[in-house]
Amino acid sequence: MKALDSLSALKGTYVVLVEGSKDIAALTSSGVVGDFICVQSGGGPVRAAEAAWKAGKPAVILTDWDRRGNQLAEDLRINLMSLGVVYNTRIRETLSYLCAPYAKDVESLDSVIIHLQRSLLDMRGVVMGAIIVVEGIDGTGKSTLCARLARELESEGFEVYPTAEPTRGKVGRLIRSGAFEGVSQSTEALLFMADRNDHTEEMLWSASEGKVVLCDRYFASTLAYQSSGLDGSSVDPGVLMPLCEAFARVPDLTILLDADPETTMGRVRSRGEDVSKFEDAGFLRRVRERYLLLAQEHGFKVIDASAGPDEVFEAAMREIREVLRCILLRRSTRRRALSSKGRG
Ligand code: TMP
Repeated sequence: MKALDSLSALKGTYVVLVEGSKDIAALTSSGVVGDFICVQSGGGPVRAAEAAWKAGKPAVILTDWDRRGNQLAEDLRINLMSLGVVYNTRIRETLSYLCAPYAKDVESLDSVIIHLQRSLLDMRGVVMGAIIVVEGIDGTGKSTLCARLARELESEGFEVYPTAEPTRGKVGRLIRSGAFEGVSQSTEALLFMADRNDHTEEMLWSASEGKVVLCDRYFASTLAYQSSGLDGSSVDPGVLMPLCEAFARVPDLTILLDADPETTMGRVRSRGEDVSKFEDAGFLRRVRERYLLLAQEHGFKVIDASAGPDEVFEAAMREIREVLRCILLRRSTRRRALSSKGRG
């Protein structure tokens, strides 16, 4: 864990999340050297942490949380410290009003801590690569799209790690083998989640090595499929969400391929593939609706999968470009950090 003894220790690649230009002036006059991200546009430290992460930079969060009570400040401090993140209360004198505007955005301390933990862990763990997920009901063309995206990214010089859920690991193979045929949707959800637990580690590892992980289905599949009442059995998304938070990570980008089940089932049949128990038009309609709701809640990028394959591919690449830009930015930030370390 890093200890921050004085403001002047904030140097180099650290990002100080500040509220506005006055804060930057205050920091600069305190002798702080670094890159600054302004969060004036609102959203609070959670968004700011995400912004820093997107910019590919580690962050030091400087806040005045104890305006809302000492217990809150103490809890946040302990949580951030356990992540090896510096939490500096000394800056309070200089930036005393920093967090006040955000207090109203915060639902509960727990939600803030979860968000910060995820953003900050991601910042430390997934530095050089990225995780991109493609979701959609059966027959939307996910696998074909993933294969084409992988070829394109490789041709542009990115190292790609193609993967899918259910995985080819021990639990994934058991799921695919049909060994659990007939179990309830809640048991099935737990199996998908168990498969995901190891898979998440594998994906994070690959992303931390600089690869672009392209994953065909991830946690949104469980949220959409297992809560949509297959054979009258379904799981409350409110029960599934904490499991997703515990065993999965928010990807850099989730693309949702959206199409009408009649169209997609026609495609599945025309490929001459076996129709699985999930491929029932009524059920898939509910899954589709659930996916569209999730897209709104979690910011998935929705692409019309009834369009031709070239159009779908181009639309997906437009979304992916932003992620690639972040990767390149992270790499150049790291190069700069390493070269300034070498000099210092
Ligand atoms: P696949 O056809 O994309 O290989 O996926 C196999 C089936 O598993 C598909 O119909 C969707 C279903 N599934 C779930 O119901 N929940 C999940 O969490 C995952 C990953 C897949």
